Amino acid sequence: MSFTTIQLDHDLLKLYLNIYPEMIKNGSPDYNSINGIFGNQARWYGLKQNEKLLAFCTIGILDDKVFLYNVGVDPNSRGRGFGSILLDCIVKKYGDKDIFLFVKKENRIAIKLYRKFNFEYIDNAFAPPIGELCFVRMKNII
Ligand SMILES: CC(C)(COP(=O)(O)OP(=O)(O)OC[C@H]1O[C@@H](n2cnc3c(N)ncnc32)[C@H](O)[C@@H]1OP(=O)(O)O)[C@@H](O)C(=O)NCCC(=O)NCCS
Repeated sequence: MSFTTIQLDHDLLKLYLNIYPEMIKNGSPDYNSINGIFGNQARWYGLKQNEKLLAFCTIGILDDKVFLYNVGVDPNSRGRGFGSILLDCIVKKYGDKDIFLFVKKENRIAIKLYRKFNFEYIDNAFAPPIGELCFVRMKNII
């Protein structure tokens, strides 16, 4: 199992659009929304097993704040701990900073995953999209 930086190449895009089909606009990937406000500064990370991409996420950094988004695990590999391994790697790498994320309020599996890594709901922070909640993991949590 390896945790590495990855590029938004064909393999990643295929898996990404499988998980986030709403990012296809007029038949094409909506790269502006996929990379989000961080544009080409967005850092993509992947979890691979035997070169197969199993999970990915995006990190954006603004001042001393880290934003985590686009978290996804291959639908055929869910419930086997890969989301947790990915979060563990992100927390180890960026846990010296506050990490923020948005999650849809009905996405209880993702919320369970985030709570497991000490993310907590914070009210109205950074104006999340409608129907989403903002969570933060404060830096240096033991
Ligand atoms: C959310 C997601 C990343 C979780 O990935 P995963 O690899 O299945 O996660 P894990 O196997 O590490 O499980 C994480 C926790 O969720 C729980 N969980 C996983 N699948 C579950 C299910 N089907 N029902 C209930 N709980 C579940 C596990 O019990 C685990 O907690 P535990 O280890 O304390 O028992 C994955 O479901 C996914 O890609 N969802 C679609 C994209 C998405 O919603 N991303 C988040 C956007 S904010």
